[in-house]
Amino acid sequence: MGARSVGRKVGTVVPQPLADVERAKLVRWTTGIPEFDFVIGGGVVPGSMALIGGEPGIGKSTLLLQAAARLRAAGRHVLYASGEESPEQLRLRADRLVEDAGPVLVLGETRLEAILEAARASKAELLVLDSIQTVYTDSLESAPGSVGQVRECAAHLMRYAKESGTAVFVVGHVTKGGTIAGPKTLEHIVDTVLYFEGESSLDYRLLRATKNRFGSVDELGVFSMTERGLSAVPNPSAVFLAARSEGTSGSAVTALMEGTRPVLVEVQALAAPSGYGTPQRVATGLDPRRLAVLLAVLERRGGTSFAQLDVFVQVTAGVKLREPGADLAVAAALLSSLSNKPTPADALFLGEIGLGGEVRPIGGFERRLIEASRLGFRRAFASPRQGSDVQGLRHVPLAHVDDLVRAIAA
Ligand code: TYD
Ligand code: MG
Repeated sequence: MGARSVGRKVGTVVPQPLADVERAKLVRWTTGIPEFDFVIGGGVVPGSMALIGGEPGIGKSTLLLQAAARLRAAGRHVLYASGEESPEQLRLRADRLVEDAGPVLVLGETRLEAILEAARASKAELLVLDSIQTVYTDSLESAPGSVGQVRECAAHLMRYAKESGTAVFVVGHVTKGGTIAGPKTLEHIVDTVLYFEGESSLDYRLLRATKNRFGSVDELGVFSMTERGLSAVPNPSAVFLAARSEGTSGSAVTALMEGTRPVLVEVQALAAPSGYGTPQRVATGLDPRRLAVLLAVLERRGGTSFAQLDVFVQVTAGVKLREPGADLAVAAALLSSLSNKPTPADALFLGEIGLGGEVRPIGGFERRLIEASRLGFRRAFASPRQGSDVQGLRHVPLAHVDDLVRAIAA
C-alpha cells in the first residue's frame, strides 16, 4: 500500500448520478405576514439558519417577534431568546406592538449553551436569537460581540439548526457604515441573509434577502410602521409615489426591478446656486460617484452646466438606486430642476446612460412598463433599442442625452 492511500477508503464512498439523488421535499412554514414570507422565499424553512441585519432601532426585534407570534398561532413551538432586552421589556413591546405574542416563550439569556438547552427542552421549532452580538459560548474566553465569539456562536447555532431541524433566526446589528464585526463575518456561514433597512425618520421599512439558499435574492418586502407594529405593504409603488408633488420641477419617476418585482420610485433633484467655494454634491439613495458621472455626461454630452450649482439628489421612501437603469430618471430630474420645468406627470424614465451620452436599453422593460401602466403612467422615455409599447403606455425613444435635454429642458 502506497502512502497515498493511507486513510482513504476508496470504495466505501460511492458517488451517484445526480439524476438518482432524491429531490428533498422542502417544507415551509408560512407566517402569514405576506411580505416576510415572500422575501424569505415562501416561508420559514425548518433546519435552516437566517441572519437579519440592520441598524439599531430599525425594527428587527419587532419584526421577528411578530413572525414568532404568527408561527406560534399556527401551532409551532417557538422560543425568543433575548440578550438585548429583558423579558419584562419584551412584554412591554409586545403589549404595545405585537398581536398574539402572549404564548411565545421568551428567555432573557446570553449564554449560548443555556439558550440551546432551553430550545431543546421546549422543543422549539423556531428559535429567535436577539442578538448575535450579545451571546457568548463557554468554549471561548473572549467577550461577547468579539469576532471570535460571533463566529463560534453562529457555527454552534448552524449545527444545532441542522441536527434538530429547528429554524434559527439571528439578529445582527450593523452600524451606518455597514461592516461592523458581526453580520458581515457571518454571511457565508448562514443559509439566508436578510437586511432590514429604511430611513429612520420615515415610516417605511424595507426587507431584502441578499443571500438565500432557499429562494431568490434581492426580493423586496415593504412594511409600514404603525402603533400596532409592522404591517406589510402590498402595493409599494403606489405608496412610494403617494407623496409625489406633480407639477414641481426636479422630479422624475422610474421603475426599478427589485428581485422579480418592478417597483416605481420618484427621484428628486435640486440644483441651486452655490455660495462660495466648491459646489456641493449630495446623493441620498444613490452612489455619489454615479451622480458625479451623470453630471459630467450632462455637461460634456448634453451641453448643460451644473458648475456653479449645488446639486442634491434623493430617492423617496429610503429606496436605493442599485441599478444603472435608473440613470435616465436621475438625469431627467437634474435637467428638470436646472430648467425649472416639471417632467410630464404621466412619464416614466428607463435607461442606462453611457459615457458617450447614449441611452442604453435595460432588462425587464416590459414588466416595468406593465407596473407603470397599472399605476396610470402613459409614456416611457427609453432607448430606441428597447422593446415596444404595452397596453396603454407608449414608448418614446431617446437615443442620447441631447434628446433628453430637448424633451425636458427645451
Ligand atoms: P425595534 O424592533 O426594537 O428595533 P431593533 O430591534 O432593530 O433595534 O424597534 C425600535 C423601536 O421602534 C421600538 O421602540 C419600537 C418602535 N416601533 C414601533 O413603534 N412600531 C413599529 O412598527 C416598529 C417596527 C417599531
Ligand atoms: Mg432589537
